Amino acid sequence: MTTSLAIVGAGSIGRLWAAYLTSEEHVDFLTTRPLSAPQTLTYSLKQAFSPHAPQSQHQITLQAIETLEQFPSHILLCTKSHSAANTALELYKHLPHRTPLFLFQNGLGSQHKILNTLPETPLFAAVTTEGANFHPPSLTLNHAGKGTTMFGPLNPAAQHHEDAIQALLNTNLSAQLTNDIWPSLWHKLIINCAINPYTALADCKNGDAIKTPRFQQDWPNLRQELSSLSRLAEAPLSEQEVEAKVFAVATSTSENISSMLQDVRSEKPTEIDDINGFAFRYLAEHGKSYSVNKQLWEDVNALRH
Ligand code: PAF
Repeated sequence: MTTSLAIVGAGSIGRLWAAYLTSEEHVDFLTTRPLSAPQTLTYSLKQAFSPHAPQSQHQITLQAIETLEQFPSHILLCTKSHSAANTALELYKHLPHRTPLFLFQNGLGSQHKILNTLPETPLFAAVTTEGANFHPPSLTLNHAGKGTTMFGPLNPAAQHHEDAIQALLNTNLSAQLTNDIWPSLWHKLIINCAINPYTALADCKNGDAIKTPRFQQDWPNLRQELSSLSRLAEAPLSEQEVEAKVFAVATSTSENISSMLQDVRSEKPTEIDDINGFAFRYLAEHGKSYSVNKQLWEDVNALRH
């Protein structure tokens, strides 16, 4: 029997997983907004790394949680980090609390809020390096760069639910299961702290962010703050290791428009509060230097005023 998955958040990562999962699984999009009737979301998937491959077409139903007739076996939460906690709370007013939930958010902060509010729910985190862009009104999802997704349990309730992950490991996307997802979450946070705000402030691609005068001026102190963050998180990286990771991602995704710059360009709220905001508050709480992260948080927030 196939499982039935529901994906909440029909942005680029939600649509990417929906497109790759539909060959084996029944997938719906789910929304916490009221809908007068289910809708059909239609889009095509373009694989930028295989320019001659035909685009696949996808038609996926969007259902409202309030009128759902059959509960999904598990949920992928692919909303932005700032709406994740409220969306999760709203979903589980209707869903059985034992329905496994996979959190795909960038940064850290939303995961902790959800862990506190849904202790009985099997919670997993996903850390992805997939590059995907979806810009309405275009109906093409561009799978810009192949990456890997790590999945891992976040709470004791998730420990005996490895079966929930099988469907996610069996697509043509590269995916792995780990028993300790926290180092991956912290290391991704560190990469996002070093790349995303500079792309947003300079309106540039990832590869150009590390060449900006501001990055070059900030980098010695930012690298030190991020290394100290990794040690506090018990996922220690030396300053040289922080630099190697950040520069490797900036180079391998050099042509990408970061998720933060995509948000700024489409005048949407950014995830800065869960990225540099989370980093500076965590460093401050532990008596460590945090001024570069705080300044970046303030300056990206100021872009919206
Ligand atoms: O947020 C993003 O865009 C991505 O996490 C990253 C790593 C910066 C690559 O674009």
